[in-house]
Amino acid sequence: MTVNYKDLGFVNTREMFKKAFADGYAVPAYNFNNMEQLQAIINGCGKSNSPVIIQVSSGARNYADQTLLRYLAEGAVAMARKADYKNPIALHLDHGDSYELCVSCIESGFSSVMIDGSHLPYDENVALTNKVVAYAKRYSVSVEGELGILAGIEDDVIAAKSIYTDPEQVEDFVNRTGVDSLAISIGTSHGAYKFKPAQCTRNKQGVLVPPALRFDILDEIERRIPGFAIVLHGSSSVLPEYVNTINQNGGQLEAAIGIPAEQLRQAAKSAVCKINIDSDGRLVMTAIIRKIFNEKPQEFDPRKYLGPARDALTKMIIEKNRLVLGSADRC
Ligand code: G3H
Ligand code: 13P
Ligand code: ZN
Repeated sequence: MTVNYKDLGFVNTREMFKKAFADGYAVPAYNFNNMEQLQAIINGCGKSNSPVIIQVSSGARNYADQTLLRYLAEGAVAMARKADYKNPIALHLDHGDSYELCVSCIESGFSSVMIDGSHLPYDENVALTNKVVAYAKRYSVSVEGELGILAGIEDDVIAAKSIYTDPEQVEDFVNRTGVDSLAISIGTSHGAYKFKPAQCTRNKQGVLVPPALRFDILDEIERRIPGFAIVLHGSSSVLPEYVNTINQNGGQLEAAIGIPAEQLRQAAKSAVCKINIDSDGRLVMTAIIRKIFNEKPQEFDPRKYLGPARDALTKMIIEKNRLVLGSADRC
């Protein structure tokens, strides 16, 4: 049975991005796989009065069951309205890797899809993306495409090195595909290990500072497609507070390094209208759960560790929206 996102209370991303662009902030796109993450995202963004994109990877869809996930998302909107949150919510497919997957999501109530053809030869990326746009248009679903390759892991695709987006391709890509937004590669990457310590310098406090993102490429892209919504993937900051808690409680995350908050703030003020965050949420929850397991080894009620993990994630989301993305109090 086909269901339209409008009937579920979602919105597409067009109006969100228009406002974000005009007012110099980025809409947060948080990934979820389970109920606690979704509760934290909805409450964190509702309480901070921020528009939000809740996003689902194909891995998440397989993990949680696509039918259950769709009802969870539908329930999230109902929960938000009951709590009187006024913020717009989009349901987005993250890193869609086929036309069929995008169609399946559109038909089950997603308001936005990403078709990630970035690993394909350029013309094949254009053709695949265009095919998805043509289908999505019928339902007014927004489409995100990608040019350039991020280092790290995206579902089953592993890239050892970034291939930065070529600004010379963006205008042609956007015109030929009709996408609503474009994910680019300017030095971010997926996961908790975005940089090697050897790539970093130490500041006066002895903290490792990674190399700056390629804002020159972002500026050039913005110059070539003025007013167009840009997306940054791989934008977790890998907060040391949580990495340390994990390591102090039996974890082994050596040299995990993310994107400094100031650089994300700078990006959010530019044409970057959507910032993707998954790893930070995973780290927060893991840190809290590890700490509770360590300090209270007798605990075995999942609510007693998933609940505090969820609360910590809610808090992190509120802080990120306020201090990094600038998306708080925009609704
Ligand atoms: O970009 C990838 C997201 O972090 C989703 O990760 O494929 O492990 O669900 P996943
Ligand atoms: P992080 O791994 O930096 O959180 O990036 C998530 C992402 O880009 C999801 O598409
Ligand atoms: Zn991504």
